[in-house]
Amino acid sequence: MSDTLADNTAKTGPSDGLAVLESRRSPAETYGIPLAVLLEVTHRCPLQCPYCSNPVELDRGSTELTTEEWKKVLSELAELGVLQIHFSGGEPTARKDIVELVQHATDVGLYSNLITSAVLLTKDKLSALADAGLCHVQISFQGNESIVADRVAGLKDAHRKKLEVAKWTRELELPLTVNAVMHRQNLHQLADIIQMAVNLDADRLEVANVQYYGWALKNRAALMPTIAQIEETSRIVEEAQVRLKGTLAIDYVVPDYYALRPKKCMGGWGRQFFNISPAGKVLPCHAAESITGLEFESVRSNHSIAWIWQNSEAFNRYRGTGWMPEPCKSCEFREEDFGGCRCQAFALTGDAGNTDPACTLSPMHEKIFKLAETEAAAEQNRFLYRNFAGGTLETEHGQDNGQDNGHGA
Ligand code: SF4
Ligand code: FES
Repeated sequence: MSDTLADNTAKTGPSDGLAVLESRRSPAETYGIPLAVLLEVTHRCPLQCPYCSNPVELDRGSTELTTEEWKKVLSELAELGVLQIHFSGGEPTARKDIVELVQHATDVGLYSNLITSAVLLTKDKLSALADAGLCHVQISFQGNESIVADRVAGLKDAHRKKLEVAKWTRELELPLTVNAVMHRQNLHQLADIIQMAVNLDADRLEVANVQYYGWALKNRAALMPTIAQIEETSRIVEEAQVRLKGTLAIDYVVPDYYALRPKKCMGGWGRQFFNISPAGKVLPCHAAESITGLEFESVRSNHSIAWIWQNSEAFNRYRGTGWMPEPCKSCEFREEDFGGCRCQAFALTGDAGNTDPACTLSPMHEKIFKLAETEAAAEQNRFLYRNFAGGTLETEHGQDNGQDNGHGA
């Protein structure tokens, strides 16, 4: 066992979600498999959001795990002690077998959450998912009305459809989370988005700031908020959190580029989370494949998921604190934020082993974040839409978007 592993073991326990297997003396006893796992069952998606968290190199439909392979994964995860599964994508309902997969998750005792853009769902399909045991629905919104929201999504009529599906979700008595990804071109709608979530009878609203790697890094100049916007956002959220206590839970974290210290991304690399890609790679986070030079093991290999989690090189490379350079190495916060985000460090510095430049103590912070401020002020607003063609630049006035998104690739 490496020093890094030993470091972390002392700090793990059921309370932070790492647990379960430790008590069972299973192969993953050192790092108990997380309680919740994100399954990206496909990268296909009818939306083209310019901040998509999928890698720039998307997995094609032909490489996706089959129904039987996903069922085997679900059974293995349940056997290992995982309690909760997030079906995500891409758009998970683009898979024809999504009801069958949810049913299998139910059969093996997993709590299932559907993270969806909602635009492919019919009422019958949603009912079938509920009948198959789906436990929770999370719908992404790009704004509070069609003009902004459909433009950001790159799909006409998307917003109206989302509202309709949110209504069906509550009619079926499924709990609903509204996920709103915020950036410079929709932050002016935040107060209305909060009210929209209340009107939709959502339990929770995630006010999620764009994370700048992958597609979002390509679109940073069009998405980066201004300092004035962030100050106003914090004010609106704080006021709403008090006013709506008991009605709507609102999650919000100050975006990296305007915080003093970075977020504890993924709860720390290889500590609390993993993700399985459409083609079956087991990843420490959804953007990990953007880091070149790391090899990720697949569920199609001869290794068990527990073995991959505990022993694979990719998970151990940035686990704990042993890998850290200065200033993290001797920093009092190193076990609070684990040096921030490896994907952001790679995207902005070319080396995932550097301190996340979101940290003001990083020697690269000043240069990189000044550039972001300049970009925000320049108001370059055209999006590069995410798609299998490697991205499509928005037309000058945005009027032709949403026609051809190649989501069936
Ligand atoms: Fe966190 Fe490293 Fe910054 Fe310290 S120097 S606050 S550990 S990112
Ligand atoms: Fe990959 Fe932060 S998104 S570590």
